[in-house]
Amino acid sequence: MSSVDRQTHWESVYTTKGEKEVSWFQERPEISLEFIAATGAGPNSAIVDIGGGASRLVDALLDDGYRKLTVLDLSKAALAASRERLGLRGETVTWVAADVTTWPPSEHYDVWHDRAAFHFLTDEKDRHAYVLRLEQALRDGGEAIIGTFALNGPERCSGLPVMRYDSSGLTTVLGPKFRLLASREEEHRTPWGASQLFQFSRFSFSP
Ligand SMILES: C[S@@+](CC[C@H](N)C(=O)[O-])C[C@H]1O[C@@H](n2cnc3c(N)ncnc32)[C@H](O)[C@@H]1O
Repeated sequence: MSSVDRQTHWESVYTTKGEKEVSWFQERPEISLEFIAATGAGPNSAIVDIGGGASRLVDALLDDGYRKLTVLDLSKAALAASRERLGLRGETVTWVAADVTTWPPSEHYDVWHDRAAFHFLTDEKDRHAYVLRLEQALRDGGEAIIGTFALNGPERCSGLPVMRYDSSGLTTVLGPKFRLLASREEEHRTPWGASQLFQFSRFSFSP
């Protein structure tokens, strides 16, 4: 799928569906918060949420006192929804409308978080571009948290095909600069009660 087609798809999702009409909605992203806390990140750690969409992760991180937050997403409408929800609190957040596979990171992050964006990259060249951005964006010793559908999770998300992973498959894709620190499967319940199996893995980066 081209970058333009991807953007058109996601812009249409976020302009036609409400927050709780999308399968990935979470009131509180507990596992993401737990994995971010496990990195040892503090208030001044730079954290980027890749494909953050209109997720409430940023709200919870602000509540927990994290101050250097960036949310990146292809969809301007998704970012606008989060900004509107957060009001003045959102002014400290850096909002980036970009495709992660072509985004040029301009600073180093302590933590890279991605829930359900990487798994849409079904082309090898896009996965390669993603890993390159990840390596450019993380500081030496920084950590990446990547949540995807698990091996026995759904084959599609938002009508698009996805790649499914376990921690070992993800470790292979990320390559030798990433060391697996922790991994867990999580059952996500969609707003209409369907069950979806995710895996979350946490890696440390050493260039
Ligand atoms: C399934 S949603 C998950 C949103 C959010 N992470 C959450 O957990 O609520 C996938 C998100 O990834 C974004 N996305 C998909 N491909 C992307 C890409 N190549 N670059 C940046 N964002 C992307 C979409 O716009 C969408 O917001």
